[in-house]
Amino acid sequence: MTDKDFVFYNEDCITGAKKYLPDNSIDLMICDPPYGIEGDKLDKHYNRDEEKVLDGYVEISSNEYPEFTKKWIAEAERVLRPGASIYIISGYTNLRHILNALADTKLVERNHLIWKYNFGVYTSKKYISSHYHILYYVKQGKEMTFNTYAFFSDSEKSETGGSLNYQDREDVWYINKEYKPGQIKNKNELPKSLLTKMILYSSLPEDMVCDFFLGSFSTAKVAIALGRNACGFEINNNAFQYQINEIQNVTKGELLVEQRTIPENQLTNKGKKLTTQETDAIISDYKSYLTLNMTKKNIIDKLTEKYHRGYWSISKIIKNAEERLF
Ligand SMILES: C[S@@+](CC[C@H](N)C(=O)[O-])C[C@H]1O[C@@H](n2cnc3c(N)ncnc32)[C@H](O)[C@@H]1O
Repeated sequence: MTDKDFVFYNEDCITGAKKYLPDNSIDLMICDPPYGIEGDKLDKHYNRDEEKVLDGYVEISSNEYPEFTKKWIAEAERVLRPGASIYIISGYTNLRHILNALADTKLVERNHLIWKYNFGVYTSKKYISSHYHILYYVKQGKEMTFNTYAFFSDSEKSETGGSLNYQDREDVWYINKEYKPGQIKNKNELPKSLLTKMILYSSLPEDMVCDFFLGSFSTAKVAIALGRNACGFEINNNAFQYQINEIQNVTKGELLVEQRTIPENQLTNKGKKLTTQETDAIISDYKSYLTLNMTKKNIIDKLTEKYHRGYWSISKIIKNAEERLF
C-alpha cells in the first residue's frame, strides 16, 4: 500500500487486515463496529421505515462479541503507526468488551468521549438513551498528531465570553444525526460533522485514514474530501457494491474549501516562564483598572490580550497578589 492509495476491500476486516495492511501503516483509525444488539433487526423492533436502508448489514452475536472484538482490536493495534490515533464508537451494551479488548493492548487512552445526539429512541418506563461512547486511544512510540487549534484559535470567544477552543475540546460532543429523507443510506450512518471533528483534530493532509467497518463509507468519504487518503473493509456485499460507486463522486479535498480560516493564535506567551517584571506589570495594570470600576472578568480579558497569556495564568497572578495585598 502506498501513501496515495484509496483501497477498499469487500472482506472481513480481521482476515483482510492480515492480508493487506502492513504493520505500522495507518495514521488514523475510525471504527464503528456492529453493536451486537441485533442491529440488523432494529427496524422491526422500533417499527422504523427502512425502505431506503441498504440490506445485508452484518451483525455480530452477543456470544461472539468478546472474541470478535479482541481480534479486530489486536489487528488495529498492529496496523496503527506509532503516534497514530484510533477512535472507536460504541453503544453501552457491549462497551465493556471493547474496553477489555483495549486493555489487552498497549494502546493508551486519551479520552473517553460522549457523543450526545438528538432524537434517542423513545422509551416511557426508563430514561431515553441518546448518547454513544467514543473511545479515543493512541499507539505510543512517536509524537501524536493532535491539532489543538483545528477549529478555533486560542482567543476566540462565544457570545457569553467563554473560550470556543475550550468548549470545542470538552469531552461531551453535541452533534446531531443526519436525516436523509428519500436517500439511500446505511444503518447507523455517522454524521459528517462528527467525522470531520475526529479527522481534523487527529490527522494531517495526505495521512492514511482507515475504517474496518465502512458501512456507507462515511469515514472514507469525509477523509478523502478533507484531503486525506482512505482505506477499509466492509463485509456486506450489497452495501459495498453500492458505495464503491458512490465514493467515485467524492473529489479529494472538496470539503477543505468549506472550512473556516482559523484566525492566528493571540496567546503567544502561553506556557512561557513569567519574569518578575512581567508579573509586577500585570499587578500594576490590574490595580489601575480597578480604579476604573471595571469588573474582574473584564480586567482579566484586557490583561490576557495585552500580555498574550491565558486567562487562568492571569487570574492566578491576580489571586496571589490579592492574597498578599488585601
Ligand atoms: C455500525 S455499521 C458502520 C456504519 C458506518 N460507520 C457508517 O457511517 O455508515 C457496522 C458495519 O460493519 C459491517 N461489518 C460487520 N462485520 C464486519 C466484519 N467482520 N468486517 C467488516 N465489516 C463488517 C456491517 O455490515 C456494517 O455495515
